[in-house]
Amino acid sequence: MKSIATIKIDEKVYEFPILEGTRGPKVLDIRSFYKDTGMFTYDPGFTSTASCNSEITFINGEKGELRYKGYPIEELTEKYKYLDICYLLLNSKLPTHEQSIEFDNELRHRAFVDEGFQSLFNAFPRTAHPMAMLSSAVSALSAFYYDHVDISDESEFAQMSGRIIAKIPTLASLAYRRGLGIPIIYPDIDRYFTENFLYMLRAYPGGKMHRNINEKADTKISDIEVKALDTIFTLHADHEQNASTTTVRTVASTGAHPYGAISAGINALWGRAHGGANESVIAQLELIGNVKNVDKYIAKAKDPDDSFRLMGFGHRVYKNFDPRAKILKKLQDQLKDELNLDSRLLEIAHKIEDIALNDEYFIKRNLYPNIDFYSGVILTALGIPKNMFTTIFVIGRTVGWISQWVEFKKDKKAKIARPRQLYLGL
Ligand code: ACO
Repeated sequence: MKSIATIKIDEKVYEFPILEGTRGPKVLDIRSFYKDTGMFTYDPGFTSTASCNSEITFINGEKGELRYKGYPIEELTEKYKYLDICYLLLNSKLPTHEQSIEFDNELRHRAFVDEGFQSLFNAFPRTAHPMAMLSSAVSALSAFYYDHVDISDESEFAQMSGRIIAKIPTLASLAYRRGLGIPIIYPDIDRYFTENFLYMLRAYPGGKMHRNINEKADTKISDIEVKALDTIFTLHADHEQNASTTTVRTVASTGAHPYGAISAGINALWGRAHGGANESVIAQLELIGNVKNVDKYIAKAKDPDDSFRLMGFGHRVYKNFDPRAKILKKLQDQLKDELNLDSRLLEIAHKIEDIALNDEYFIKRNLYPNIDFYSGVILTALGIPKNMFTTIFVIGRTVGWISQWVEFKKDKKAKIARPRQLYLGL
């Protein structure tokens, strides 16, 4: 039986359908609200608003549950590599062994970018933030590929999505190398996606490899490093209607180029309240500098007159724990010795975690460590500098954005995003 909600305004009763998803809370359908009542609803920050239907990702914030296409994130990170997760998000099913190899192979060959991109990157000052260069480069990609994608044509969609997923790591490596003023490294088609990204960061012409510009020793890329980064990519692959994904869908709703929509998503992600938090977490741990200073900064975070916030704490949806953070914390513990994690940063992070998880202020507001609290220490151990952290998030999330873009395009009832306002001016 269809459920109906009644709302009484000025003695008049209006009826609105209640929709039921396959999981999650019921949703009040207010699409006819303005037409029926002449009133708008008011929900800045969309705390109570579902903006679309989706079959991609499910989050239960109270239970700390995250699923891609129905599969729990714990199972996906344990049993599958990142490119299999991409395949799942794009095709709604996990690949067979053959499909996995074919998809991997296709992406290896799509990783190259037009030689003209070197001029684009060289036009940036070396001090430019990698996120500024990356979002511009993705926007520039839209100039190289036509914008009309027939999403009903599977091969066209596969080409459009595979291309952007494959090229983003290459563009991120170009941004990194521009910052250092060092020669670019072309993708190596003999390497798996994640290993190839580390290779494009570390390699020098002539086959030498460095983990970090300041290190002299040649260093191979270990399986442990690839697995760690691959897990980080998987954990970032999608997260339903967050700020950057909503940005991608909003841009998609105007009919703009898909890569233009993704470039907008990259800029939305950059902010420190969203994906930029991973960079801010490490900056904050470095600022705190010593376990002795932790109490002082916890007090600042709790002070209502101080704008200081504990970066990597809190989440709009997760009110119990962030399952991605749990997986990364476990990974951090496993890799502590193997990856030579920075013990000073870890000590400060553990003290913050211990205090915050037992402190009334944080408990009352359901503030738990989020994914960004743990990813930075691992990325630092991989030799990735902190200004590149949010580009790592971009690499992982691109598949989510493109899947959400196509879902929007396939939705016959989708409309241009056009919210209204409560006017308070003259
Ligand atoms: N440190 C201290 N206090 C905090 C923090 C924090 N990190 N986060 C929230 N609070 C407090 C707020 O001051 C507020 O307190 P009040 O009720 O006394 O005014 C209360 O908790 C609720 O905070 P809101 O900002 O209303 O919560 P919202 O859901 O809008 O914000 C957000 C969520 C943006 C993630 C916030 O918790 C935050 O700024 N965290 C730090 C940045 C961060 O880690 N971002 C990454 C998020 S995960 C991701 O995007 C991948």
